[in-house]
Amino acid sequence: MWSRQLNGVLKNVPKIGSLRTTATAVPGEPKGPNIVTAVPGPASKKLIADLNTINQSGSVQLFADYDKSIGNYLIDVDGNVFLDAFTQISSIPIGYNHPELLKVFHEDHKLKALVNRPALGVYPGKDWPEKLRNVLLSVSPGLPQVMTMMCGSCSNENAYKALFISYRAKERGENVDFSELENTSCMVNKPPGSPNLTLLSFHGAFHGRTMGTLATTHSKAIHKLDVPSLDWPIAHFPRYKYPLEENVRENQAEDQKCLAEVEDLIEKYNKKGTYVAGIVVEPIQSEGGDNEASPEFFQELQRIAKKHRAGLLIDEVQTGAGATGKMWCHEYFNLESPPDIVTFSKKMLTGGFFHTLDMRPKHPYRIFNTWLGDPGKLFLLEAVVKVIKQQNLLEQVQKTGNRLKAGLLDLEKQHSNLLNSTRGRGSFLSVNTTDHGLRDKILEKLKQKGVIAGGCGDHAIRLRPSLVFQEQHADIFLDKFSQVLNDVK
Ligand SMILES: Cc1ncc(COP(=O)(O)O)c(C=O)c1O
Repeated sequence: MWSRQLNGVLKNVPKIGSLRTTATAVPGEPKGPNIVTAVPGPASKKLIADLNTINQSGSVQLFADYDKSIGNYLIDVDGNVFLDAFTQISSIPIGYNHPELLKVFHEDHKLKALVNRPALGVYPGKDWPEKLRNVLLSVSPGLPQVMTMMCGSCSNENAYKALFISYRAKERGENVDFSELENTSCMVNKPPGSPNLTLLSFHGAFHGRTMGTLATTHSKAIHKLDVPSLDWPIAHFPRYKYPLEENVRENQAEDQKCLAEVEDLIEKYNKKGTYVAGIVVEPIQSEGGDNEASPEFFQELQRIAKKHRAGLLIDEVQTGAGATGKMWCHEYFNLESPPDIVTFSKKMLTGGFFHTLDMRPKHPYRIFNTWLGDPGKLFLLEAVVKVIKQQNLLEQVQKTGNRLKAGLLDLEKQHSNLLNSTRGRGSFLSVNTTDHGLRDKILEKLKQKGVIAGGCGDHAIRLRPSLVFQEQHADIFLDKFSQVLNDVK
Protein backbone atom coordinates (compact mmCIF):
# COMPACT_ATOMS: atom_id res chain seq x y z
CA MET A 1 0.00 0.00 0.00
CA TRP A 2 2.71 2.42 1.11
CA SER A 3 5.00 1.55 -1.73
CA ARG A 4 2.19 1.98 -4.26
CA GLN A 5 1.62 5.55 -3.04
CA LEU A 6 5.30 6.26 -2.88
CA ASN A 7 5.78 5.07 -6.42
CA GLY A 8 3.04 7.46 -7.46
CA VAL A 9 5.00 10.35 -5.96
CA LEU A 10 8.35 9.09 -7.18
CA LYS A 11 7.08 8.80 -10.72
CA ASN A 12 6.69 12.56 -10.74
CA VAL A 13 10.07 13.43 -9.26
CA PRO A 14 12.37 14.58 -12.04
CA LYS A 15 15.50 12.49 -12.47
CA ILE A 16 18.15 15.16 -12.30
CA GLY A 17 21.56 13.54 -12.11
CA SER A 18 21.41 11.11 -9.20
CA LEU A 19 18.59 12.91 -7.49
CA ARG A 20 16.77 9.81 -6.26
CA THR A 21 18.11 8.42 -3.07
CA THR A 22 16.84 6.41 -0.15
CA ALA A 23 19.32 7.79 2.38
CA THR A 24 17.10 10.74 3.30
CA ALA A 25 14.29 11.27 5.79
CA VAL A 26 11.63 10.92 3.14
CA PRO A 27 12.14 8.16 0.60
CA GLY A 28 12.49 9.56 -2.91
CA GLU A 29 13.83 12.92 -1.86
CA PRO A 30 16.33 14.58 -4.17
CA LYS A 31 19.92 14.62 -2.87
CA GLY A 32 20.13 18.37 -3.04
CA PRO A 33 18.84 21.51 -4.72
CA ASN A 34 19.08 21.83 -8.48
CA ILE A 35 18.43 25.09 -10.30
CA VAL A 36 17.89 24.91 -14.05
CA THR A 37 16.51 28.40 -14.84
CA ALA A 38 16.61 31.88 -13.37
CA VAL A 39 14.09 32.09 -10.51
CA PRO A 40 11.30 32.77 -11.24
CA GLY A 41 11.70 30.79 -14.47
CA PRO A 42 9.74 31.36 -17.70
CA ALA A 43 6.81 29.11 -16.75
CA SER A 44 6.44 30.84 -13.35
CA LYS A 45 6.70 34.29 -14.97
CA LYS A 46 3.93 33.48 -17.42
CA LEU A 47 1.65 32.26 -14.63
CA ILE A 48 2.46 35.29 -12.45
CA ALA A 49 1.48 37.61 -15.34
CA ASP A 50 -1.75 35.65 -15.81
CA LEU A 51 -2.62 35.67 -12.10
CA ASN A 52 -1.88 39.36 -11.90
CA THR A 53 -4.73 40.08 -14.34
CA ILE A 54 -7.10 38.53 -11.78
CA ASN A 55 -5.75 39.81 -8.44
CA GLN A 56 -2.88 41.66 -6.79
CA SER A 57 -0.22 38.99 -6.92
CA GLY A 58 2.86 41.06 -6.14
CA SER A 59 3.74 38.69 -3.30
CA VAL A 60 3.99 35.59 -5.53
CA GLN A 61 7.62 34.43 -5.89
CA LEU A 62 7.12 31.38 -8.08
CA PHE A 63 4.59 28.72 -8.97
CA ALA A 64 5.15 25.36 -7.34
CA ASP A 65 4.49 21.89 -8.65
CA TYR A 66 2.87 20.14 -5.70
CA ASP A 67 2.61 16.86 -7.57
CA LYS A 68 6.38 16.67 -7.75
CA SER A 69 7.48 18.39 -4.53
CA ILE A 70 8.64 15.86 -1.96
CA GLY A 71 9.98 15.79 1.59
CA ASN A 72 12.12 18.86 2.23
CA TYR A 73 12.19 19.80 -1.45
CA LEU A 74 9.84 22.18 -3.20
CA ILE A 75 9.88 21.74 -6.98
CA ASP A 76 8.64 24.57 -9.18
CA VAL A 77 6.87 24.59 -12.53
CA ASP A 78 10.20 25.21 -14.30
CA GLY A 79 11.75 22.07 -12.79
CA ASN A 80 13.87 23.92 -10.23
CA VAL A 81 14.44 21.91 -7.05
CA PHE A 82 14.68 23.93 -3.81
CA LEU A 83 15.67 22.81 -0.35
CA ASP A 84 12.81 24.36 1.60
CA ALA A 85 13.79 25.82 4.97
CA PHE A 86 10.72 28.07 5.09
CA THR A 87 7.93 25.55 4.31
CA GLN A 88 5.04 27.78 3.25
CA ILE A 89 5.56 30.32 6.03
CA SER A 90 6.24 27.59 8.58
CA SER A 91 3.18 25.48 7.89
CA ILE A 92 4.30 22.11 6.44
CA PRO A 93 4.81 19.78 9.40
CA ILE A 94 6.40 16.65 7.89
CA GLY A 95 7.46 17.65 4.40
CA TYR A 96 5.73 17.57 1.02
CA ASN A 97 3.72 14.53 -0.04
CA HIS A 98 4.50 12.50 3.05
CA PRO A 99 3.27 8.93 2.35
CA GLU A 100 1.32 8.82 5.63
CA LEU A 101 -0.60 11.92 4.60
CA LEU A 102 -1.15 10.79 1.03
CA LYS A 103 -2.95 7.69 2.20
CA VAL A 104 -5.33 9.40 4.65
CA PHE A 105 -8.18 9.96 2.21
CA HIS A 106 -7.94 6.51 0.69
CA GLU A 107 -10.20 5.51 3.56
CA ASP A 108 -13.80 5.93 2.48
CA HIS A 109 -14.98 7.24 5.85
CA LYS A 110 -12.34 9.99 5.88
CA LEU A 111 -12.99 10.92 2.26
CA LYS A 112 -16.69 11.30 3.04
CA ALA A 113 -15.90 13.52 6.04
CA LEU A 114 -13.94 15.71 3.60
CA VAL A 115 -16.60 15.77 0.92
CA ASN A 116 -19.52 16.39 3.30
CA ARG A 117 -18.03 19.25 5.20
CA PRO A 118 -20.18 19.71 8.29
CA ALA A 119 -21.21 22.74 10.31
CA LEU A 120 -19.30 21.29 13.25
CA GLY A 121 -21.06 23.39 15.88
CA VAL A 122 -24.45 21.95 14.88
CA TYR A 123 -24.16 18.62 13.02
CA PRO A 124 -20.79 17.02 13.82
CA GLY A 125 -20.10 13.44 12.71
CA LYS A 126 -20.22 10.69 15.32
CA ASP A 127 -16.42 10.44 15.73
CA TRP A 128 -15.89 14.17 16.37
CA PRO A 129 -15.58 14.01 20.22
CA GLU A 130 -13.24 11.03 19.91
CA LYS A 131 -11.11 12.86 17.31
CA LEU A 132 -10.87 16.00 19.45
CA ARG A 133 -9.85 13.89 22.44
CA ASN A 134 -7.49 11.47 20.72
CA VAL A 135 -5.82 13.89 18.33
CA LEU A 136 -5.95 17.44 19.66
CA LEU A 137 -6.21 16.87 23.40
CA SER A 138 -3.46 14.22 23.13
CA VAL A 139 -1.03 17.08 22.42
CA SER A 140 -2.65 19.74 24.62
CA PRO A 141 -0.27 21.76 26.81
CA GLY A 142 -2.18 20.82 29.97
CA LEU A 143 -5.46 22.50 28.99
CA PRO A 144 -8.67 20.45 29.14
CA GLN A 145 -10.82 22.17 26.46
CA VAL A 146 -10.33 22.78 22.75
CA MET A 147 -12.13 24.67 19.95
CA THR A 148 -11.23 24.23 16.28
CA MET A 149 -11.07 27.11 13.80
CA MET A 150 -9.88 27.71 10.25
CA CYS A 151 -6.70 29.80 10.37
CA GLY A 152 -4.37 31.56 12.79
CA SER A 153 -6.15 34.92 12.68
CA CYS A 154 -9.53 33.25 13.13
CA SER A 155 -8.20 31.27 16.12
CA ASN A 156 -6.90 34.39 17.83
CA GLU A 157 -9.99 36.41 16.93
CA ASN A 158 -12.24 33.87 18.65
CA ALA A 159 -9.85 33.36 21.55
CA TYR A 160 -9.99 37.14 22.17
CA LYS A 161 -13.76 36.89 22.38
CA ALA A 162 -13.41 34.06 24.91
CA LEU A 163 -11.15 36.31 27.04
CA PHE A 164 -13.72 39.12 27.04
CA ILE A 165 -16.70 36.85 27.63
CA SER A 166 -14.98 35.16 30.55
CA TYR A 167 -13.90 38.51 32.04
CA ARG A 168 -17.47 39.86 31.94
CA ALA A 169 -18.92 36.59 33.27
CA LYS A 170 -16.67 36.94 36.33
CA GLU A 171 -17.56 40.62 36.78
CA ARG A 172 -21.26 39.96 36.41
CA GLY A 173 -21.30 36.85 38.57
CA GLU A 174 -21.57 33.46 36.94
CA ASN A 175 -25.31 32.98 37.50
CA VAL A 176 -26.47 36.49 36.66
CA ASP A 177 -28.07 36.86 33.25
CA PHE A 178 -27.57 39.69 30.74
CA SER A 179 -29.52 42.84 31.61
CA GLU A 180 -32.04 44.39 29.24
CA LEU A 181 -29.71 47.38 28.83
CA GLU A 182 -26.83 45.07 27.88
CA ASN A 183 -29.04 43.37 25.31
CA THR A 184 -30.07 46.63 23.66
CA SER A 185 -26.78 48.54 23.92
CA CYS A 186 -24.67 45.78 22.34
CA MET A 187 -26.87 46.01 19.25
CA VAL A 188 -25.55 49.53 18.62
CA ASN A 189 -21.95 48.80 19.73
CA LYS A 190 -22.26 50.74 22.98
CA PRO A 191 -21.53 49.87 26.63
CA PRO A 192 -22.51 48.18 28.81
CA GLY A 193 -23.42 45.46 26.27
CA SER A 194 -20.27 46.18 24.21
CA PRO A 195 -18.05 46.90 27.22
CA ASN A 196 -14.95 49.09 27.39
CA LEU A 197 -12.52 46.21 27.64
CA THR A 198 -9.07 45.94 26.08
CA LEU A 199 -6.27 43.44 25.48
CA LEU A 200 -2.64 44.24 26.08
CA SER A 201 -0.25 43.28 23.28
CA PHE A 202 3.40 43.98 22.47
CA HIS A 203 5.25 46.15 19.97
CA GLY A 204 6.61 43.86 17.26
CA ALA A 205 3.83 41.29 17.76
CA PHE A 206 1.94 39.56 14.96
CA HIS A 207 -1.37 37.92 15.81
CA GLY A 208 -3.21 38.14 12.49
CA ARG A 209 -4.86 40.43 10.01
CA THR A 210 -8.57 40.35 10.87
CA MET A 211 -10.01 43.48 12.50
CA GLY A 212 -9.63 42.40 16.14
CA THR A 213 -6.29 40.66 15.80
CA LEU A 214 -4.93 43.51 13.70
CA ALA A 215 -5.38 45.79 16.72
CA THR A 216 -2.79 43.58 18.46
CA THR A 217 -0.46 43.21 15.44
CA HIS A 218 2.41 45.71 15.43
CA SER A 219 5.07 44.17 13.22
CA LYS A 220 4.77 46.12 9.93
CA ALA A 221 2.84 49.25 8.97
CA ILE A 222 1.78 47.76 5.63
CA HIS A 223 -0.40 45.25 7.51
CA LYS A 224 -2.29 48.01 9.29
CA LEU A 225 -2.43 51.11 7.08
CA ASP A 226 -5.89 52.57 6.29
CA VAL A 227 -7.74 50.18 8.63
CA PRO A 228 -9.41 51.74 11.68
CA SER A 229 -8.24 50.16 14.90
CA LEU A 230 -8.62 50.09 18.67
CA ASP A 231 -6.84 52.14 21.32
CA TRP A 232 -5.59 49.17 23.33
CA PRO A 233 -2.42 49.10 25.47
CA ILE A 234 0.86 48.13 23.76
CA ALA A 235 3.97 47.36 25.79
CA HIS A 236 7.55 46.87 24.66
CA PHE A 237 8.75 43.30 24.22
CA PRO A 238 12.33 42.58 25.30
CA ARG A 239 15.06 43.15 22.72
CA TYR A 240 18.07 41.17 23.84
CA LYS A 241 21.75 41.58 23.22
CA TYR A 242 23.61 38.52 21.93
CA PRO A 243 25.31 36.28 22.78
CA LEU A 244 22.92 35.81 25.70
CA GLU A 245 25.56 34.39 28.06
CA GLU A 246 27.69 37.56 27.70
CA ASN A 247 24.79 39.97 28.25
CA VAL A 248 22.93 38.48 31.20
CA ARG A 249 22.70 41.68 33.27
CA GLU A 250 21.57 43.92 30.38
CA ASN A 251 18.98 41.38 29.27
CA GLN A 252 17.60 40.96 32.80
CA ALA A 253 17.28 44.74 33.01
CA GLU A 254 15.47 44.67 29.65
CA ASP A 255 12.99 42.11 31.05
CA GLN A 256 12.37 44.25 34.12
CA LYS A 257 11.81 47.41 32.04
CA CYS A 258 9.26 45.71 29.79
CA LEU A 259 7.44 44.03 32.69
CA ALA A 260 7.22 47.33 34.57
CA GLU A 261 5.66 48.90 31.47
CA VAL A 262 3.11 46.05 31.25
CA GLU A 263 2.01 46.63 34.82
CA ASP A 264 1.98 50.41 34.35
CA LEU A 265 -0.18 50.18 31.25
CA ILE A 266 -2.65 47.81 32.91
CA GLU A 267 -3.02 50.17 35.86
CA LYS A 268 -3.38 53.19 33.58
CA TYR A 269 -6.04 51.58 31.38
CA ASN A 270 -7.91 50.13 34.34
CA LYS A 271 -7.93 53.54 36.01
CA LYS A 272 -9.57 55.15 32.98
CA GLY A 273 -12.24 52.41 32.93
CA THR A 274 -10.99 50.54 29.86
CA TYR A 275 -10.10 47.38 31.74
CA VAL A 276 -7.45 44.99 30.47
CA ALA A 277 -9.18 41.63 30.11
CA GLY A 278 -6.17 39.79 28.72
CA ILE A 279 -2.53 39.78 27.68
CA VAL A 280 -1.71 38.38 24.26
CA VAL A 281 1.85 37.26 23.55
CA GLU A 282 3.96 35.07 21.25
CA PRO A 283 6.57 32.81 22.91
CA ILE A 284 8.99 34.08 20.23
CA GLN A 285 7.82 37.13 18.27
CA SER A 286 8.08 35.60 14.82
CA GLU A 287 6.93 37.94 12.03
CA GLY A 288 8.28 40.83 14.09
CA GLY A 289 11.88 39.58 13.92
CA ASP A 290 12.25 36.39 16.00
CA ASN A 291 12.48 38.33 19.25
CA GLU A 292 12.90 36.01 22.21
CA ALA A 293 12.16 36.55 25.88
CA SER A 294 13.40 34.56 28.86
CA PRO A 295 11.40 31.99 30.86
CA GLU A 296 11.60 34.44 33.80
CA PHE A 297 9.96 37.14 31.66
CA PHE A 298 7.04 34.86 30.87
CA GLN A 299 6.74 33.61 34.47
CA GLU A 300 6.48 37.19 35.71
CA LEU A 301 4.10 38.13 32.90
CA GLN A 302 1.78 35.34 34.05
CA ARG A 303 1.98 36.60 37.64
CA ILE A 304 1.07 40.12 36.51
CA ALA A 305 -1.85 38.79 34.44
CA LYS A 306 -3.19 36.82 37.42
CA LYS A 307 -2.77 39.76 39.79
CA HIS A 308 -4.88 41.99 37.52
CA ARG A 309 -7.43 39.26 36.64
CA ALA A 310 -6.41 39.42 32.99
CA GLY A 311 -6.31 36.14 31.02
CA LEU A 312 -3.00 35.08 29.47
CA LEU A 313 -3.17 34.03 25.82
CA ILE A 314 -0.02 32.49 24.35
CA ASP A 315 -0.12 32.54 20.56
CA GLU A 316 1.66 29.40 19.33
CA VAL A 317 0.41 29.71 15.75
CA GLN A 318 3.98 29.85 14.42
CA THR A 319 5.99 28.34 17.29
CA GLY A 320 3.71 25.35 17.98
CA ALA A 321 3.65 21.76 16.74
CA GLY A 322 7.24 20.83 17.45
CA ALA A 323 9.38 23.37 15.59
CA THR A 324 11.23 24.45 18.74
CA GLY A 325 11.95 20.86 19.78
CA LYS A 326 9.02 20.80 22.20
CA MET A 327 5.44 20.46 21.05
CA TRP A 328 4.76 23.96 22.44
CA CYS A 329 7.46 26.57 22.80
CA HIS A 330 6.05 27.86 26.10
CA GLU A 331 6.87 24.46 27.65
CA TYR A 332 10.40 25.89 27.94
CA PHE A 333 9.11 28.56 30.34
CA ASN A 334 8.12 26.38 33.33
CA LEU A 335 5.04 28.47 34.02
CA GLU A 336 3.44 27.82 37.39
CA SER A 337 0.20 26.81 35.63
CA PRO A 338 -0.80 26.48 31.96
CA PRO A 339 -1.75 29.75 30.22
CA ASP A 340 -5.50 30.43 30.03
CA ILE A 341 -5.51 30.04 26.24
CA VAL A 342 -3.03 28.65 23.71
CA THR A 343 -3.83 29.30 20.04
CA PHE A 344 -2.50 27.21 17.15
CA SER A 345 -2.63 26.80 13.36
CA LYS A 346 0.06 26.42 10.63
CA LYS A 347 1.89 23.09 11.27
CA MET A 348 -1.14 21.89 13.26
CA LEU A 349 -3.01 21.98 9.92
CA THR A 350 -6.20 23.02 11.69
CA GLY A 351 -6.56 26.30 13.51
CA GLY A 352 -7.95 26.41 17.02
CA PHE A 353 -7.26 27.01 20.66
CA PHE A 354 -6.83 25.08 23.88
CA HIS A 355 -8.31 26.69 26.98
CA THR A 356 -9.20 26.38 30.64
CA LEU A 357 -12.74 25.65 31.81
CA ASP A 358 -12.90 29.30 32.88
CA MET A 359 -12.65 30.41 29.25
CA ARG A 360 -15.68 28.35 28.20
CA PRO A 361 -18.78 30.51 27.64
CA LYS A 362 -21.90 29.42 29.48
CA HIS A 363 -24.16 29.99 26.44
CA PRO A 364 -23.87 28.24 23.07
CA TYR A 365 -23.32 30.16 19.79
CA ARG A 366 -20.92 32.67 21.36
CA ILE A 367 -17.71 31.18 19.95
CA PHE A 368 -19.15 29.91 16.72
CA ASN A 369 -19.09 30.03 12.93
CA THR A 370 -20.40 27.88 10.10
CA TRP A 371 -17.58 25.36 9.73
CA LEU A 372 -15.66 25.70 12.99
CA GLY A 373 -12.69 24.05 11.30
CA ASP A 374 -12.74 20.99 9.10
CA PRO A 375 -12.72 17.31 10.13
CA GLY A 376 -10.51 16.57 7.09
CA LYS A 377 -7.72 18.60 8.68
CA LEU A 378 -8.01 16.59 11.87
CA PHE A 379 -7.56 13.34 9.96
CA LEU A 380 -4.36 14.77 8.49
CA LEU A 381 -3.22 16.02 11.89
CA GLU A 382 -3.88 12.56 13.35
CA ALA A 383 -1.37 11.14 10.84
CA VAL A 384 1.11 13.95 11.57
CA VAL A 385 0.97 13.36 15.34
CA LYS A 386 1.45 9.63 14.76
CA VAL A 387 4.56 10.27 12.65
CA ILE A 388 5.94 12.79 15.19
CA LYS A 389 5.58 10.21 17.96
CA GLN A 390 6.70 7.11 16.02
CA GLN A 391 9.76 8.78 14.55
CA ASN A 392 10.72 10.82 17.62
CA LEU A 393 10.66 13.91 15.47
CA LEU A 394 10.99 16.30 18.42
CA GLU A 395 14.34 14.68 19.17
CA GLN A 396 15.25 14.96 15.49
CA VAL A 397 14.35 18.68 15.56
CA GLN A 398 16.73 19.17 18.51
CA LYS A 399 19.55 17.35 16.71
CA THR A 400 19.02 19.22 13.45
CA GLY A 401 18.64 22.46 15.35
CA ASN A 402 21.91 21.94 17.22
CA ARG A 403 23.73 21.34 13.94
CA LEU A 404 22.13 24.37 12.29
CA LYS A 405 22.72 26.67 15.25
CA ALA A 406 26.38 25.64 15.58
CA GLY A 407 26.81 26.27 11.84
CA LEU A 408 25.13 29.67 12.02
CA LEU A 409 27.30 30.69 14.98
CA ASP A 410 30.35 29.61 13.05
CA LEU A 411 29.32 31.64 9.99
CA GLU A 412 28.53 34.58 12.26
CA LYS A 413 32.11 34.39 13.56
CA GLN A 414 33.55 34.20 10.05
CA HIS A 415 31.35 37.04 8.75
CA SER A 416 30.94 39.30 11.76
CA ASN A 417 30.64 42.26 9.37
CA LEU A 418 27.47 40.67 7.90
CA LEU A 419 25.81 38.55 10.61
CA ASN A 420 25.01 38.74 14.31
CA SER A 421 22.62 37.54 17.00
CA THR A 422 22.10 33.88 16.08
CA ARG A 423 19.18 32.68 18.21
CA GLY A 424 16.21 30.37 18.57
CA ARG A 425 15.19 26.95 19.84
CA GLY A 426 15.16 23.61 18.03
CA SER A 427 15.21 24.28 14.29
CA PHE A 428 13.18 27.48 14.82
CA LEU A 429 16.26 29.64 14.30
CA SER A 430 17.32 32.99 12.97
CA VAL A 431 20.28 35.28 12.52
CA ASN A 432 20.38 39.03 11.97
CA THR A 433 22.08 40.72 9.05
CA THR A 434 23.55 44.18 9.46
CA ASP A 435 20.89 45.85 7.33
CA HIS A 436 17.57 45.32 5.62
CA GLY A 437 18.91 45.52 2.05
CA LEU A 438 21.62 42.96 2.77
CA ARG A 439 19.05 40.58 4.27
CA ASP A 440 16.87 40.71 1.17
CA LYS A 441 19.91 40.29 -1.10
CA ILE A 442 21.05 37.20 0.82
CA LEU A 443 17.57 35.65 0.66
CA GLU A 444 17.40 36.30 -3.08
CA LYS A 445 20.84 34.79 -3.70
CA LEU A 446 19.97 31.77 -1.58
CA LYS A 447 16.90 31.24 -3.74
CA GLN A 448 18.95 31.44 -6.92
CA LYS A 449 21.13 28.69 -5.41
CA GLY A 450 18.11 26.55 -4.64
CA VAL A 451 17.47 27.28 -0.97
CA ILE A 452 14.30 28.89 0.38
CA ALA A 453 14.62 30.73 3.70
CA GLY A 454 12.48 33.54 5.12
CA GLY A 455 12.89 37.06 6.37
CA CYS A 456 11.27 38.59 9.44
CA GLY A 457 11.46 41.94 11.19
CA ASP A 458 13.89 44.39 9.61
CA HIS A 459 17.10 42.38 9.61
CA ALA A 460 16.47 38.73 10.39
CA ILE A 461 16.83 35.64 8.24
CA ARG A 462 14.59 32.96 9.71
CA LEU A 463 14.62 29.21 9.28
CA ARG A 464 11.35 27.33 9.48
CA PRO A 465 12.08 23.87 8.16
CA SER A 466 9.68 20.96 8.52
CA LEU A 467 10.16 18.48 11.35
CA VAL A 468 11.77 16.00 8.93
CA PHE A 469 14.65 18.35 8.14
CA GLN A 470 17.73 16.35 9.15
CA GLU A 471 21.41 16.98 9.71
CA GLN A 472 22.23 16.38 6.03
CA HIS A 473 19.70 19.05 5.06
CA ALA A 474 21.26 21.38 7.63
CA ASP A 475 24.66 20.80 6.02
CA ILE A 476 23.34 21.63 2.55
CA PHE A 477 21.73 24.79 3.90
CA LEU A 478 24.91 25.87 5.69
CA ASP A 479 27.05 25.19 2.64
CA LYS A 480 24.82 27.30 0.37
CA PHE A 481 24.56 30.03 3.00
CA SER A 482 28.33 30.13 3.30
CA GLN A 483 28.67 30.45 -0.50
CA VAL A 484 26.21 33.35 -0.53
CA LEU A 485 27.99 35.13 2.34
CA ASN A 486 31.27 34.81 0.46
CA ASP A 487 29.52 36.25 -2.62
CA VAL A 488 28.17 39.33 -0.85
CA LYS A 489 31.00 40.12 1.55
C1 LIG B 1 2.12 34.15 15.75
C2 LIG B 1 1.09 34.24 14.67
N1 LIG B 1 -0.19 34.42 15.01
C3 LIG B 1 -1.16 34.49 14.09
C4 LIG B 1 -0.87 34.40 12.74
C5 LIG B 1 -1.97 34.51 11.73
O1 LIG B 1 -2.18 33.29 11.10
P1 LIG B 1 -2.93 33.24 9.69
O2 LIG B 1 -2.01 33.83 8.69
O3 LIG B 1 -3.17 31.78 9.49
O4 LIG B 1 -4.19 34.01 9.84
C6 LIG B 1 0.46 34.22 12.34
C7 LIG B 1 0.80 34.14 10.91
O5 LIG B 1 1.94 34.22 10.50
C8 LIG B 1 1.48 34.14 13.33
O6 LIG B 1 2.76 33.98 13.00
